[in-house]
Amino acid sequence: MNAKLAEAGVSSRVNMSVTPQLPYASRAQGVFIYDEDGNDYLDGSAGPMAVSLGHGVPEILDVMREQAAKICFAYRTQFNTRSKEALIEALIHLAPEGFDWAFLVNSGSEGTELALRSAIHYWEYVGKPEKVNVLGQSISYHGMTMGSLSMSGHASRRKDYASLLHEFDLGVTPYSFRTPKSDEDYLNEILAAWDRVLTEKAATTAGVIVEPIVGAAGGALTPPDGYLSGLRKLCDKHDVLMIADEVITGLGRTGTWFGCEHDNVVPDMIVTAKGMSSGYTPMGAVLYHHRVSSSFSNAQPQGHTFSGNPLSSAVCLAVVQYMERNNILDNVQARGRQLKAGLERLSRAHPWMGGVRGRGLLWGFELLADPAKRSPMATEFEANRKFVKHCFDAKLVIYPAGVAPYNNALIISPPLTITEEELNILLDRLETGMRSFEKEFGLGTS
Ligand SMILES: Cc1ncc(COP(=O)(O)O)c(C=O)c1O
Repeated sequence: MNAKLAEAGVSSRVNMSVTPQLPYASRAQGVFIYDEDGNDYLDGSAGPMAVSLGHGVPEILDVMREQAAKICFAYRTQFNTRSKEALIEALIHLAPEGFDWAFLVNSGSEGTELALRSAIHYWEYVGKPEKVNVLGQSISYHGMTMGSLSMSGHASRRKDYASLLHEFDLGVTPYSFRTPKSDEDYLNEILAAWDRVLTEKAATTAGVIVEPIVGAAGGALTPPDGYLSGLRKLCDKHDVLMIADEVITGLGRTGTWFGCEHDNVVPDMIVTAKGMSSGYTPMGAVLYHHRVSSSFSNAQPQGHTFSGNPLSSAVCLAVVQYMERNNILDNVQARGRQLKAGLERLSRAHPWMGGVRGRGLLWGFELLADPAKRSPMATEFEANRKFVKHCFDAKLVIYPAGVAPYNNALIISPPLTITEEELNILLDRLETGMRSFEKEFGLGTS
């Protein structure tokens, strides 16, 4: 509360019972966040997979100050600004072939919501107004606005609003951890299931939305090679748009600018947010392939008050330029190999940690009750939250994630700038957290 009021003995009027009891973060530098007691937490998840460059990068802070001194805000229907145009130019330069336009928003949820509206708009424009549904994967998360949540396969986040959500169908998600099938058979089975859904629903389906790697709902669930390209072919076959939700995977997280590049896929829209601002300002974007952007020539999408504000645009442009100038993608690939090897080593030493998967600097694993059977720890243990707490006590921040209904996965996704030495500290602290988790659960491997 206000320090003067506190000194005067006035008690807070804020309802503290709904305020989470957490340490107070007072400053941050690089991959470390410091609390008011001087503890140094290694930010092993980049917050929620967002802080791509780490904290307190001087070049970004300089741009922030310079742009703030020039102009912080001009409303997009009244003025163009150079920083907004330069950011859109930079994003299109990085996007796959055929992309030629972007609309800026303030968060990932606004981005996926806009992609949904844009898909509906597109089909209206081409004379098929009955195509209004966007299908997500059965395990997925696209945001907390009602449209975004309607496309999400995330039972626990949907449950309180079920009656308000659009009745979009959900397709399938590749999740092969417990299947005895070969990769090829499993991939064929999953694509055949999508084919069946789209055959039945194509007449009313505007698009399919897919995370190249499923984040919050899946614990970095990584599809087999050929899945995204197979889904792209099915979207073409059934005449529906493909939307890549790259809110997590976009702008370098998986070692390429966009996650869909891994499978050489060109979607019709890409949504990005989180890492594009590295947490220095709220920002998101929808990137459009020409096929969809052409439907907007006479009618721009509706946006939000702060969409594309010049201050946030300048900051995001500085983030992208910093990544290019410092070859951050090379670091993601090198540190990604180190992280993969480290997690696999830990999984061998602590077999209840299973299903290690990911790419670049986006990795996940699951907590197993019986490693031989790969059975998950039961939901009521809240094992992933407890695991996060043990790691937090070891001064490592990691992110609890799906897979529904067990919610027993974890994500490790440090800033893309992490050094080799810092990554070793991350792995050491992870093992310390694991050992104390093992003690609580009597797992007996240490
Ligand atoms: C894949 C994905 N899409 C969309 C969102 C929503 O983004 P935001 O929280 O910025 O609204 C998230 C957030 O975690 C996400 O992981």
